[in-house]
Amino acid sequence: MELFNALLLLLATSILLIWLWLKNNYSYWQRRNVETAPFSYLFGTLKDVTLQKEAFSTGTLKLYKKYKSKGAKHVGLYFLWETMYMPIDVDLVKSIMQVDFQHFVDRGVYVNEKADPLSAHLFSLEGKKWKLLRNKLTPTFTSGKMRMMFETLVECTKGLGKVMDEEMGEAVDIKDILGRFTTDVIGSCAFGLNCNSLENPKSEFREKGKAVFEKDFWENLKEVILFLAPNFMKKLNISLTPKDVSDFFLNVVKDTVAYREKEGVVRKDFLQLLIQLKNKGKLVDDEKVAEENITDEENSITLDEICAQAFIFFEAGFETSSTTMTFSLYELSKNKEIQEKARDEVRRVLERHQGKLTYDAAMEMRYLEQIINETLRKYPPLPVLNRICTKEYRVPGTDLVLEKGQRLMIPVIGIQSDPEYYPEPEKFDPDRFSEENKKNMKPYTFLPFGDGPRVCIGARFGMMQTKVGLAALLLNYDFEVSEKTKEPIDFEPKSFVMLTKGDVWLKYRRIAEIEL
Ligand code: HEM
Ligand SMILES: *[C@@H]1O[C@H](CO)[C@@H](O)[C@H](O)[C@H]1NC(C)=O
Ligand SMILES: *[C@@H]1O[C@H](CO)[C@@H](O)[C@H](O)[C@H]1NC(C)=O
Repeated sequence: MELFNALLLLLATSILLIWLWLKNNYSYWQRRNVETAPFSYLFGTLKDVTLQKEAFSTGTLKLYKKYKSKGAKHVGLYFLWETMYMPIDVDLVKSIMQVDFQHFVDRGVYVNEKADPLSAHLFSLEGKKWKLLRNKLTPTFTSGKMRMMFETLVECTKGLGKVMDEEMGEAVDIKDILGRFTTDVIGSCAFGLNCNSLENPKSEFREKGKAVFEKDFWENLKEVILFLAPNFMKKLNISLTPKDVSDFFLNVVKDTVAYREKEGVVRKDFLQLLIQLKNKGKLVDDEKVAEENITDEENSITLDEICAQAFIFFEAGFETSSTTMTFSLYELSKNKEIQEKARDEVRRVLERHQGKLTYDAAMEMRYLEQIINETLRKYPPLPVLNRICTKEYRVPGTDLVLEKGQRLMIPVIGIQSDPEYYPEPEKFDPDRFSEENKKNMKPYTFLPFGDGPRVCIGARFGMMQTKVGLAALLLNYDFEVSEKTKEPIDFEPKSFVMLTKGDVWLKYRRIAEIEL
């Protein structure tokens, strides 16, 4: 009997303690006088997102709209059981990303050099390590380097035309073709390999690339928890990258590096620049290193670091650009006058450049760039940006103090769909980005590449790759929606990047025979 009583007492105490913990944990924002979004114990605020019933972008957009209409400066959320802070006011967003960057240096995403070497890349690295690597890698993305790689990029459009002709029929899944195109581009620019996924859709590169983004329920659950509560997962020493993907990429990069060093092969791509950094600590034609007075030794990178960077260039580079191209073509199919105008521009610019698509020619395609920007506004591939507070921060104009370790999410999708900044936000209107209208744009309302010192390092390359792909397609093909096209587009709930759910079918026909 005594044992029974003791057990009962233990049980009652546990329940009481759990209850007290829940009460305390989920009253965090209330105690700080921050308006709190409705939440449920255990699942937190974005319950449907956690349960993978709703896309992250959709859930965030709803929250943004609700609190913006209440005139809130910010709102307090719970992700699972961790607190999350969401700024709404764009001046506050600017403070966080740029002005007071020193308080928000990191993203607070998963990184574990030991258990998962591929996770130690620029996107996830923190503090000093990030800063050092960012300085080393910045010279690989200058416009001079883009010019150097341009040829390699245009080369990949040949395979694109071939596949388009082969698959011509009733309608085609354009998302898949473009995914194969950007896989080839990044494969040849980041890894120096001809991955041939345009010709061979089952190529290992394409399969592994897809595996990073198309996950099953359990893999995605791991990622959701990693995103919502990375601290918890770090303690468990779990690798985010699936073992087969990780082995594949590590081997590919290491083999290629070894081959080039042994045979003295030099190619015009990112990998070559990374190898130079490894061996020389600088890029030979770069004065900047000398100026900054960094010894070459300190500035060099290791083979493992090369692998992780090549991997993030691949991960960050192919899906973002191919979804942007997909959404662009979808919108152009629905808005035929805009498509015509873009095609006219491509033709006129090429005529001025003797029919050759050069770096300078691409730079001159301004209207095409407006189309890409309008696509990135409506469909930002990263609908939410994250930061973590690295130094206590008093939110300007309030008495709220964000503690060190507090995570933040910046609602890019909300800001870019806000009628205050973009009247009729549902309308696809590239003229929003015309020379004239751009002058009236409010700063920090267009964030598809992020901003501040953590801004996308590959933005130039991403823009260039998207432009080249679209120019090559518009020149020779006319696009239309078909009966098979799903409308409106549905977003994939099992992904943090903004992906369409299922395929995107478009109809097209050849209208010219122009080789680039
Ligand atoms: C249309 C194409 C692309 C889009 C929309 C895009 C978007 C973004 C965004 C939103 C961020 C986070 C910025 C922030 O937190 O403020 C980012 C970071 C990053 N992106 Fe991109 N990206 C694109 C293409 C690329 C390409 C082609 C590469 C590499 C070749 C790349 C490499 C990276 C890296 C390494 C980071 C982390 C930078 C750092 O933390 O220092 N991205 N990108
Ligand atoms: C984490 O895993 C790696 C390799 O899987 C191992 O080397 C390391 O010792 C582990 N660390 C902890 C704290 O368990
Ligand atoms: C498109 O957006 C990028 C990134 O914000 C910007 O640098 C570029 O000037 C924009 N181009 C146009 C035509 O608006």
